[in-house]
Amino acid sequence: METETITQVEHDVPFKLDVYKGLTSSPKEISSKYFYDDEGSLIFQEITQMEEYYPTRLEMDVFKRNKSAIVERVEAEHVDVVELGAGDGHKTKVLLEEMVSKKKLTRFFPIDISEKAIRELLKNIGASERLEVRPVVGDFFKGLDQVVSHSTNPKLALFLGSNIGNFGPEERISFLTNLKQALRPGDMLLIGFDLKKDINKLMNAYDDPHGVTKRFNLNLLKRINRELGGNFDLESFHHHAFYNPRKGAMESSLLSLKEQDVYIEEYGVSFHFDAFEPILLEHSYKFTMTEINTMAKACGFFTVENFFDSTNGYVNSLWKVNSEAHFH
Ligand code: AVJ
Repeated sequence: METETITQVEHDVPFKLDVYKGLTSSPKEISSKYFYDDEGSLIFQEITQMEEYYPTRLEMDVFKRNKSAIVERVEAEHVDVVELGAGDGHKTKVLLEEMVSKKKLTRFFPIDISEKAIRELLKNIGASERLEVRPVVGDFFKGLDQVVSHSTNPKLALFLGSNIGNFGPEERISFLTNLKQALRPGDMLLIGFDLKKDINKLMNAYDDPHGVTKRFNLNLLKRINRELGGNFDLESFHHHAFYNPRKGAMESSLLSLKEQDVYIEEYGVSFHFDAFEPILLEHSYKFTMTEINTMAKACGFFTVENFFDSTNGYVNSLWKVNSEAHFH
């Protein structure tokens, strides 16, 4: 296989600053976007291979059932596919192969924060005569700016895996509005949403009996130990996940099992934890079709078609950037 050049773009907010802010705020809170260092990306891959973690499997089912319909909706002959948070590319491969078999000339720009994930993706998705692969390592919007400045073809953006679920209600609107502004009228977005469902199913997926999700959460403390000289004792934190029906989200925290002080060399200070004090780490919002349609409109898109898995537990919604005049 020919080796593609990996473009690196800068990170937006330094990890060090955000962790400091998060550990000095009340309640303590660190963004789940920091889960995905190289090790975290590997553990996430393990999560997606578990029986209990259904979203990956359902999205794959959506693609297998609907790949031909999805690709037919993308009318352009030359398409630039930009994926935000591409991960290992396992699911995207199904769509790309369909595009190639429909004789579309496709350029694929996977953007991911983890270089290891991108290398894994390059093993899964090889370039061919009809498929050019141009990987970018970095933050979503820095990566997207980089791609947009190199391409004039019609675009299909991909935001899969219900990654949108990690954003709160306001944050998701501003994220999608920014995304729309980086695109042009007529460009498309295929976005994956995990739908609201039985709470037991959710609990099993986010508090799995194998302890993989626990390891995924604890890796953030390990990352602080590794990168910032932290002294977190992983044994003294408990992974707690529950469904908050009022928010419509799974919420994950690590709870300090005892009163303790944790020294972090990079700051030269200790952080105090009371017994059972939480560090909030992640929201995974679940959606209804009503919420999804409202969201599309609010962010300057209209819905072209919704594609479901065979259990109707997951949807990939194909949106188009509105061509009506907008006032910004
Ligand atoms: C990759 C953000 C979609 O929220 O379901 C998996 C991450 N967290 N298990 C999700 C995750 C716990 C995942 N996303």
